[in-house]
Amino acid sequence: MDQAQQLREAVNLRNQTSTEKEKKVARVIAVTSGKGGVGKSNISVNLAVTLRNMGQKVIIFDADFGLANVEVMFGTVPKYNLSDLIYRGMSIREIITQGPQGIGFISGGSGIIGLNNLGRNQILYLVKCIEELNELADYIIIDTGAGISSQVLEFLKVSPEVLLVTTPDPSSIADSYSLLKALFKNPGYVKGHTKVHLLANKVSSKDEGAGIYEKLDTVVSKFLEEDLDFYGIIPEDNQLEKAVKQQKIVSLMYENAKSTKAFKELAERILNNDKDVNQKRRWGISKIFSEILSGKA
Ligand SMILES: Nc1ncnc2c1ncn2[C@@H]1O[C@H](COP(=O)(O)OP(=O)(O)O)[C@@H](O)[C@H]1O
Ligand SMILES: [Mg+2]
Repeated sequence: MDQAQQLREAVNLRNQTSTEKEKKVARVIAVTSGKGGVGKSNISVNLAVTLRNMGQKVIIFDADFGLANVEVMFGTVPKYNLSDLIYRGMSIREIITQGPQGIGFISGGSGIIGLNNLGRNQILYLVKCIEELNELADYIIIDTGAGISSQVLEFLKVSPEVLLVTTPDPSSIADSYSLLKALFKNPGYVKGHTKVHLLANKVSSKDEGAGIYEKLDTVVSKFLEEDLDFYGIIPEDNQLEKAVKQQKIVSLMYENAKSTKAFKELAERILNNDKDVNQKRRWGISKIFSEILSGKA
């Protein structure tokens, strides 16, 4: 048995014990896009706030190493990040920063890059710590960062649910297609493994959003033989921009903004399909990490 296989077995054993105890598993949603600047961080944070207001416990994991803008929106600079857990033995609770409304926030920081070079014991420790998030959250929202970097693809490939953000900008639609192609044609990708929900952001109408979805879904089913799901729209909203400029969160600041209403619809859609989310698709955050990491060991 090679090292990666041994590790996978050690980690699987952990996952098995937790299902035996029928532990609750937090639902993981990875927010991604083909290119940057399309609204991922805004969507992650506003979705978190809205789900929180609906009574859900939420943790945001900021895995965008380049642009850590969740912290800007929360107005709190996290003291610690994932590397404090991996290299300095801190616990998962210690590296969670408290954001508004009691939303937890974990910064991947430079720890994300270090994930490529971990040893077996570090991996087992990390996966064990990550597993604790299931007790602390009902929803874990991962802001993945943009683009077809192998780091982002590794995440998406093993994530049960991906929220793909696209704007009407033709280059955004083209970049979304490129990302989906890189994901679905990735050698390690198992057909049907990742459910991709499209969210059309910065649109002028529901019809415009539906048009983007139809366009993408058509080419994806024709050329990539997978299908997309549609999660609706967030309208272009100058109140959202106004909030961003003040480093505030639109759904906390402007209750009647059209984007605030759209975030409510999105959160409701997500809560409502909770029951329908295939049990098989409901694998937890620790499995996501263990799959990424054991592949690298
Ligand atoms: N629905 C929207 N309406 C208006 N402006 C938006 C909307 N969504 C995003 N933006 C603008 O786009 C910018 C980039 O958003 P951000 O969430 O930081 O993108 P990403 O995380 O994908 O790089 C924001 O600063 C905001 O001004
Ligand atoms: Mg961002």
